[in-house]
Amino acid sequence: MSTTQTQAGRATADGLQSVRAGAAAAAKSDRTASSVRRSATFRVWRGDAAGGALHDYTTEVSEGMVVLDAIHQIQADQANDLAVRWNCKAGKCGSCSAEVNGMPKLMCMTRLNDLDLEKPVTVEPMRTFPPLRDLVTDVSWNFEVKKRLKPFKPRPPDAPDGTWRMAQRDVDRVQEFRKCIECFLCQDVCHVLRDHHKHAEFIGPRFLVQAAALEMHPLDVEDRVTELKEAHGIGYCNITKCCTKVCPEHITITDNAIIPLKERVVDRHYDPLARLVQLVMGRKR
Ligand code: SF4
Ligand code: SF4
Ligand code: FES
Repeated sequence: MSTTQTQAGRATADGLQSVRAGAAAAAKSDRTASSVRRSATFRVWRGDAAGGALHDYTTEVSEGMVVLDAIHQIQADQANDLAVRWNCKAGKCGSCSAEVNGMPKLMCMTRLNDLDLEKPVTVEPMRTFPPLRDLVTDVSWNFEVKKRLKPFKPRPPDAPDGTWRMAQRDVDRVQEFRKCIECFLCQDVCHVLRDHHKHAEFIGPRFLVQAAALEMHPLDVEDRVTELKEAHGIGYCNITKCCTKVCPEHITITDNAIIPLKERVVDRHYDPLARLVQLVMGRKR
C-alpha cells in the first residue's frame, strides 16, 4: 500500500470518528434538553365524606413521569397527609384509579407527556363511589356485588381419570375476561351507576364481565340467566360502550361480554322458540 493510500485511509477513519463524536454530542444534548425539569400544576381534590375542594400544587416534572409520580412528589414535599391508594405502579393491581382531567384513569399509567401541562391537571377520586379521603374511595360495594354472583359450577369430568375435554376456541373465548384487574374504572364511568345511582339494581360492567367469564366457560353448567335479568339488572345497560373505552386492559366489555349475555336473556325470556331449542339441546351456547 502506498503512503498516499495509507494517509487517505487514515483521513477517512478520522472523519468517521469525528462524525460519530458529533452524533453522540447531539444525542447527549437532545437527552439533556428532553430531561430538563419544569413545573406543572396539579389541581387535587382534598376532602372526605363530609365534602372537599380542589387544591392547587405546583411541582417539578420531568420526562417519563406519570400522574402517580407527581402525586407522590406532592405528598413528599408539600402535603404529607394527602391520601392516595396504590400498590404496583405497573397497571396491574387496579388500586390507583382516579379521574384525571375528568377521565377515569389509572394514575400510574397516565403519562404527563400525554397531558397539556400548560393548564392545571385535575386529579379527583372516582365519583361513582363514596369518598373516604382525598383520592381514596370506598369501593367495597363491588366486593359485595361479587358475592351475589353464582360461583363456577363445573360439569362432571368427561373421562374416568377425572379430566375434561374442551374445544380450544371455547377456552380462548373467556381468556379476555380473565385480564380484569378490578380497577373499577368501568363501574366509575357507567352512567347507570354514576348518574342514576342504580347500585341496588345493577351490578355494572365489571360484574357483567365476571358473569360472562362464568356463563361462557366451557365447563360451567350453572344457570345465571334469570338473575342477569332480574337481580343483576342487565336491562339497564343501553350499550353506550363507555366502559369499553376506559378499560385499561382493553377488554371488549360491551361487544364480547354484555351483548352475548343480553342475547341469552332475550332467548330465555322473550323468545319461546329459542328457549324450546335450548331445552331440547340441553346446553348453553
Ligand atoms: S355499555 Fe352498558 S355497562 Fe357499559 S357504560 Fe354503557 S350502560 Fe354502562
Ligand atoms: S373490566 Fe376493565 S375497567 Fe372494568 S374493572 Fe376490569 S380491568 Fe377495570
Ligand atoms: S398502582 Fe397498581 S394499577 Fe396503578
